[in-house]
Amino acid sequence: MTYETYVGMTRENLLEKLKSQVSKKRLQHMLGVEKASIYLAEINGYDPEKAGLAGLLHDYAKELSNEEFLALIDKYGLDPDLKNWGNNIWHGKVGIYKIQEDLGVTDSEILAAIENHTTGSKDMSVLAKIVYVADYIEDNRHFPGVEEARQLAEVSLDKAVAYETAHTIEHLAHQAVPIYPQTIETYNAYVNYLKET
Ligand SMILES: [Fe+2]
Ligand SMILES: [Fe+2]
Repeated sequence: MTYETYVGMTRENLLEKLKSQVSKKRLQHMLGVEKASIYLAEINGYDPEKAGLAGLLHDYAKELSNEEFLALIDKYGLDPDLKNWGNNIWHGKVGIYKIQEDLGVTDSEILAAIENHTTGSKDMSVLAKIVYVADYIEDNRHFPGVEEARQLAEVSLDKAVAYETAHTIEHLAHQAVPIYPQTIETYNAYVNYLKET
């Protein structure tokens, strides 16, 4: 399956569209996630084109204004509790509505992977794990622990999901900011993978 199957345009035309939606730096990150998603798909027996597209699109809505997100929450009758959160949560959970509107993506697996790319979830498809992990380990990422995450991703997507979630929670707790309940659910669903050797 090619990108055109899912977005009705070639990758080249899609890149033009993305350039009008996000900054250069963001696009570079999205291209990094595309590349990492393709790689993770290849080593996990998943369709690299579908993974690449989901990775490329994952931050499509990241630069929408708060007003745009709040309007989308109303327009689609989404959980009103979402309004208590911010861009980090909205660009996935609400962003998928913008992606459907602008790009006509209907594939539910791609949409779910993008929806949950920040929080993970307790029931992630292989594609959702690929995008979640690729977002964390792509080449432009530089932070303490990224090398360990990259090594784990070579071994097991589940271990990489567990490592990433634990470190995200540590990071958020250290910053003294609230943690979205679904992130905790992801942690609980994957914590056992931290113990196995
Ligand atoms: Fe994101
Ligand atoms: Fe991202």
